[in-house]
Parts: sequence; structure tokens; C-alpha cells
Amino acid sequence: MGHGPTPVHQNVSEHNQAIQWPLPQEFQGSGETCLRLGVLASGSGSNFEALAQACQSGQLAANVCQLVVNNPFCGARERAERLGIPCIVHDHRGFSSREALDQALIDSFRRAQVDLVVMAGWMRIVTERLIDAFPERLVNIHPSLLPSFRGARAIEQALSAGVRITGCTAHLVSLEVDTGPILVQAAVPVLDGDTPQTLAARIHRQEHKILPHAVQLAAHRLALLSP
Ligand code: GAR
Repeated sequence: MGHGPTPVHQNVSEHNQAIQWPLPQEFQGSGETCLRLGVLASGSGSNFEALAQACQSGQLAANVCQLVVNNPFCGARERAERLGIPCIVHDHRGFSSREALDQALIDSFRRAQVDLVVMAGWMRIVTERLIDAFPERLVNIHPSLLPSFRGARAIEQALSAGVRITGCTAHLVSLEVDTGPILVQAAVPVLDGDTPQTLAARIHRQEHKILPHAVQLAAHRLALLSP
């Protein structure tokens, strides 16, 4: 048994850089009910755009009907403008409580008649009010293999812990932060020399794949789409 450092295959192909479970199903054909999606985002919005693209390409029989952001200057808002998707800003600093912000989100999504709401990098703690308004219809994406590394800075937490495998999780939202029934996970290796940025980029690529799949699973659970 050698005691040297474990060899790490730095040149693994993108294909081998992640394991996703459950495996994606075949794309659904046309003729399905078209799901109306609402999306919440606070940051760059790459997951929001990946979801919108999955809808546009027909991978997901859905439409992103409404984006809500809490930061007027976030990248997600710019992406929405480019993609022609309606965007509302509910700046959290203008609300007296988390419940008041959540009520504004509920009102916006109800007006847009959305079936499911996706938290695609929504960096606000949600309250029971939002969860109760969309029971089993609230999906979150998180950059770790939950239940490990909940909360903010999950990627930095994984690097500090020295894990060799981390990943991302799409799940239904429960009251405690980053908990709830898991829909899809992808495992992503931590490579030698990774920084928060390089690891985040590798995780993001997997998030963009699992999020549309998770939305499809959430919709099937509720029989909003045909199986
Ligand atoms: C994503 O990595 C998402 O998992 C994370 O924010 C990022 C948003 O990126 N969410 C959380 O950490 C929630 N706890 P994006 O704005 O490019 O989609």
C-alpha cells in the first residue's frame, strides 16, 4: 500500500466529471400540458437561463412566465430582458419582514398563474407563508450534496472540509434552510488546486442539467405533466 498522495485524474472529460441521479428521462413529446413556471433569482441567473433554454428547446414542456428578483442590479434581470421574460423586482430592503416579501412574491406569481416556483439562486430565507402558498410546488437548487453544507457559501464549506466529492441538489423546499425531499443530485469531483471559482463553475454546469430534470420530476409528482 503506497502512502503518497492519491493520484487525481485532472484530465477527466466533462462526461466523466459528474454522476447524476436519478438519470434523466427521455424528453417528453409535444402535446403535454405546458407548465407555467415562476423563477426567483438573486444573482447572475445562469440557472434561470438554463431553465428558460430547456423550455425553449422542448426538453421541458414548460414556459418560464415570470422572473422575480430581489436585487435590481442582478445578472438574472439582464438575462430576462435579453430572453424577453417578464421580470419584477421586489427589493427585500423595501419590506418590513420576510413574510411581507414572501406575500409580494405570492401575489406576483398568482397574477402570472404559475404552477411551480423555482428558487434558482434565491438568497433569501423563505417563510411558511411562501411554502404554504405553493405546497410541493417550490423547488430549490443548492450547490452541495445535501444534507452536507447547507446554507450560504456551500462551495467554500466543501473546500474547507477537504471533501473530494461534492455536487449539487435540486429539492422541494421545507421550512428549514436547504432541507426538503430531494429530487435530483449530481456528484462533482473536487480537483487538486480547485478554487471556489473553478469548483463553482464545475458545479454550475451540473446544476444547469439537473434543474430542468428536477422541475419535470416535481411536476410529475403532482401529475401536472403526463408521465
Ligand atoms: C447556484 O449555484 C445555486 O445553487 C446557489 O446560488 C447559485 C446561483 O447561481 N444557491 C444557493 O446557494 C442557495 N442556498 P446563478 O445565479 O448563476 O443561477
